[in-house]
Amino acid sequence: MSKNTFYLTTPIYYVNDIPHIGHSYTTIAADVLARYKRARNSNVLFLTGTDEHGQKIQKAAQTGNKSPLEFVNDVVEKFKTLWNDLNISHDDFIRTTEERHCRRVKKIFQQIHENGDIYEGEYEGWYCIPCESFWIESQLKEKKCPECNRAVEKVKEKNYFFRLSKYQKNLLEYYDKHPSFVQPESRRNELLQRMKFQIEDVSISRSAVEWGIPVPSDPTHTIYVWIDALLNYITALGYDDDPQTFHKYWPANVHIIGKEILWFHGVIWPAILMSLKIDLPLKIFAHGWWTIEGQKISKSLGNAIDPHSIIRSYGTDAYRYFLLREVPFGSDGNFSYSALIQRINSDLGNDLGNLLQRTLTMIEKYFQGIIPEVPRADDELMMASRVARDTMDHEMEDLQFSRALEIIWEFIGKANKFIEDKKPWLLAKTAESRPQLVSVIGTLAQAIKDISVFIYPFMPTTAAEIQRQLGILENDRPPCLAFQEHFQEGTITRRGKPLFPRIESV
Ligand code: ME8
Ligand code: MG
Repeated sequence: MSKNTFYLTTPIYYVNDIPHIGHSYTTIAADVLARYKRARNSNVLFLTGTDEHGQKIQKAAQTGNKSPLEFVNDVVEKFKTLWNDLNISHDDFIRTTEERHCRRVKKIFQQIHENGDIYEGEYEGWYCIPCESFWIESQLKEKKCPECNRAVEKVKEKNYFFRLSKYQKNLLEYYDKHPSFVQPESRRNELLQRMKFQIEDVSISRSAVEWGIPVPSDPTHTIYVWIDALLNYITALGYDDDPQTFHKYWPANVHIIGKEILWFHGVIWPAILMSLKIDLPLKIFAHGWWTIEGQKISKSLGNAIDPHSIIRSYGTDAYRYFLLREVPFGSDGNFSYSALIQRINSDLGNDLGNLLQRTLTMIEKYFQGIIPEVPRADDELMMASRVARDTMDHEMEDLQFSRALEIIWEFIGKANKFIEDKKPWLLAKTAESRPQLVSVIGTLAQAIKDISVFIYPFMPTTAAEIQRQLGILENDRPPCLAFQEHFQEGTITRRGKPLFPRIESV
């Protein structure tokens, strides 16, 4: 029996610093998927949150002259505010400092211990604080962290280890049996490549780090921040004291992450779940990395643009659209203001905005602002709308957001071409062609309504605004998401301002 639930997650972000474009990208992508699934009547649980323990945060708090808890409490608000301003519709927000999380993490740690998968040992190697990652000498690149290229520090401490090596064979079998477990394909191949070599057990506690969840049997250690963090995906579901909620949503349908943390999600996390004898998530999708004007986003470069400044100037929906339209989900992308403005002027202003304006103007001119009867018979444009919907569904199932948007915009192009081809201004000239005029304008209104349904997951505010102007939505109501539902007779349009006024280049 297939469940009608859809559980999706973002990484829980470190609160050492304020969120930037990269964080907003993952969260927006997850939001689009969540809204899409809800519109398709799934019972969605969309989880995001913050990763608040560990050395990096401890250090950031020290630098800021605050206690770790004071420090994280402040930064968390920045994330929450941004998600609100980006119209993120998460159902739960987990903080790893919450009691519900800490309590469950301790219990789970003990369970793994009791399963014989944790032992005491000595770790000697390197540690990258920004990545919170252990590296052995041979993994370093020119003595730097192979992931972020920053300085690493030597670590020698008594630690607890997790028997990751024990699960290597099971993991390989699992990847083999579940070809779409790790996506996209290129990342899956990289992972398989790395898994051809013997994998080492991993350290899962830190004796040198105070800011963390204590190891229950040995409070001189704290649980390694990555183990603490990964467990959020099940502690948020109440594992294991709330089996009802847990079994309702688990296994997760998809963990959406950035490519740099695939090893943790595609190898360590599944091994932990295997140790706990819990089903694995159905999919892990590791998307690509954004640069800004060609450069890596980093605090030291000072180019980490606050998404707030972008949305203040260009609007939330334009920003959401740009991020998901500009690059295929899975590939790397580059943010530039000129590319953003280009998309706003052409895709949003010219293609979408003008379609609505032109159509509403004609409805006012030829029908006193009342939507004429939409033809019941199938015409070309309505058929194209159905094809668009089916194709889009396909792409959304594969998290191919940019493809889904391309399909929507092809359809918008068809609607614009329909106006050019049918020339309603000529049809309006004679009484004999009046029935054709009714049919053309009715069809156009219906096409625009369909477009509002298509774009809703990506641009919820714009979808609602279109429906308000079409006269089918009262203020502050959620938009209608029923596909190809006909207008009520006598629907009065309310043409408003252009959706995306032209922006002169900066
Ligand atoms: O890794 N481009 O948190 P984090 C695209 N706490 N996405 C980016 C990005 C960029 N330039 N920069 C960041 C952590 N991201 C851990 C996760 S999960 C159990 C624990 C996004 O604050 C992307 O999703 O470093 C990446 O994986 C995530 O932010 C890393 O956030
Ligand atoms: Mg990071």
